[in-house]
Amino acid sequence: MPQARNPQLNAHGELIHLLSIEGLPREVLHHILDTAGTFLSVNDREVKKVPLLRGKSVFNLFFENSTRTRTTFEIAAKRLSADVINLDIARSSTAKGESLLDTIANLSAMHADMFVVRHGESGAPYLIAKHCAPHVHVVNAGDGRHSHPTQGLLDMYTIRHFKKDFHQLTVAVVGDIVHSRVARSDIHALTTLGAPEIRAVGPKTLVPGDLKEMGVRVCHDMAEGIRDADVIIMLRLQNERMSGAMLPSASEFAKTYGLTPEKLALAKPDAIVMHPGPINRGVEIDSAVADGGQSVILPQVTFGIAVRMAVMSIIAGNVA
Ligand code: CP
Repeated sequence: MPQARNPQLNAHGELIHLLSIEGLPREVLHHILDTAGTFLSVNDREVKKVPLLRGKSVFNLFFENSTRTRTTFEIAAKRLSADVINLDIARSSTAKGESLLDTIANLSAMHADMFVVRHGESGAPYLIAKHCAPHVHVVNAGDGRHSHPTQGLLDMYTIRHFKKDFHQLTVAVVGDIVHSRVARSDIHALTTLGAPEIRAVGPKTLVPGDLKEMGVRVCHDMAEGIRDADVIIMLRLQNERMSGAMLPSASEFAKTYGLTPEKLALAKPDAIVMHPGPINRGVEIDSAVADGGQSVILPQVTFGIAVRMAVMSIIAGNVA
């Protein structure tokens, strides 16, 4: 039976949407990271603009809250000279019951060229991509628990910036992995880019068992999980996605899995500490670590602009 084509790629294997990191070839990931590198310097110019998306309309559709992703997508699109429209979902006709696809059809009638979509339902960006005209591009800005591909890519950019090569790295992803679209995107990206040891660290209730099948080492013991790690990615407890008692309490979780300077000392001395944000200080990460010398949490945000510029400029240059 012929294999179904990855809906993110055209017949030439070029990226036309960014929906998930899963299934993207290593060359595509490197192309995005390399392109992001060329955009970093745009942020330092007096006139922070390049004309690559001049005349294009980018619609930001955030059906879930966001600070970093929404703002850096807007900055990235403006730096590429696009016209940016931020739909205020709370004041939109979604509140009157308009369906997602009707909203998309109406915005398409306004000559949208690209939709950047965050949605609580896993798969919503795929649905939109399936129903858009061939010239319209879709970027997933986080869907349910499924995927957050630009966060995964900016995390890879950050790791490559500080550690240069993925092939020697031990990366520990710590915390609420079961609810985390970032964890899934990071694990797919790290696997594709050749990181030899990926650890998923957390209590049994928050670490899915199927990660072992993806070659991930599951550790329920924090010390075992972060010992000699080169990179530690801390994740937020996603209380809004938890049903029932998945944890004894946040303070119990903090005691066992919260990253303190004492626990960080178990990792390599030059280990970097990452977090996609927003951070819960005193829960998954101590302020002394979040604001400390090994934290690269704010550089992650800055790199996000260049990575999102890269994604938007690459997909806009390819046709279905
Ligand atoms: N990392 C991340 O997705 O943050 P926001 O929810 O603020 O966009």
